[in-house]
Amino acid sequence: MAGEADRVPPGVDVKRANVARVYDYWLGGSHNFLADQDLARAITAVEPNSRAGALANRAFLGRAVRFLTSAGIRQFLDIGSGIPTQGNVHEVAQQASPGARVVYADVDPVAIAHSKAILAGNDNAAIIDADLHDPGQVLGDPTVRRLIDFGQPAGLLLVMVLHFIDDAADPWRIVATLRDALPSGSYLVLAHATTESRPAVAQAAETVYNRSVSTDIHMRSRAEILRFFDGFDLVEPGLVYIPQWRPDSPADVPADPGKFWVLVGVARKP
Ligand SMILES: C[S@@+](CC[C@H](N)C(=O)[O-])C[C@H]1O[C@@H](n2cnc3c(N)ncnc32)[C@H](O)[C@@H]1O
Repeated sequence: MAGEADRVPPGVDVKRANVARVYDYWLGGSHNFLADQDLARAITAVEPNSRAGALANRAFLGRAVRFLTSAGIRQFLDIGSGIPTQGNVHEVAQQASPGARVVYADVDPVAIAHSKAILAGNDNAAIIDADLHDPGQVLGDPTVRRLIDFGQPAGLLLVMVLHFIDDAADPWRIVATLRDALPSGSYLVLAHATTESRPAVAQAAETVYNRSVSTDIHMRSRAEILRFFDGFDLVEPGLVYIPQWRPDSPADVPADPGKFWVLVGVARKP
């Protein structure tokens, strides 16, 4: 029987929990290891909504991509794209708009290896190994240049990734650099963990998380998250908790939408 070591890409430390793989575990994926599962369970003990929150975020991503395709967007740059599970951006986009082009970017070798595997043979989608800390590297990447036409509106997806960038690295400047490279009519899709709704639980979960993972999480206030939209116009309903963003059905919005402590928004560059 194959053990963990048999399915680990080179350079991966399976003894240390990793943000991409903890998230994969919550989504029901199979590309995670014992350290990731242990941490996911420890966080779930502090915050029982963690798995539901991950699933709700993934559903938001699908709604946002469908919204963008209905607005005419045909090309997507998804940074911090994660380990592919179900309802991946290229699947949602290419189903709604055959021929839509998608470039994924991530730093996690497991996410990159599995993305490469599922994208083999798809000429309109690719994954690159690139760090959001260096937006210039992302923008200059030959694969990005091949698949994304910077003369045409594009969708920039920064979904559950900006909270892995420390204030000291100025994530607002990073977003502005990406924004400035995109033409008018482009969209930003953003999801970001927040301390806003339940500060005590959020901070406890953040402490458990940061004790064990390779990349610290930095939850932010609503005002700090709003600043990422500078130079964009938020579309309705603005910056809201995950289930409140254009739900497929009113029944999908729980009585306490802030229980997932993630704020999301979609905005258009005028
Ligand atoms: C919680 S997952 C989100 C995946 C996907 N965007 C989603 O919302 O379903 C966060 C992803 O961001 C990636 N990540 C973290 N820091 C990054 C960085 N500096 N540059 C690129 N990717 C990063 C992680 O490896 C992980 O795959």
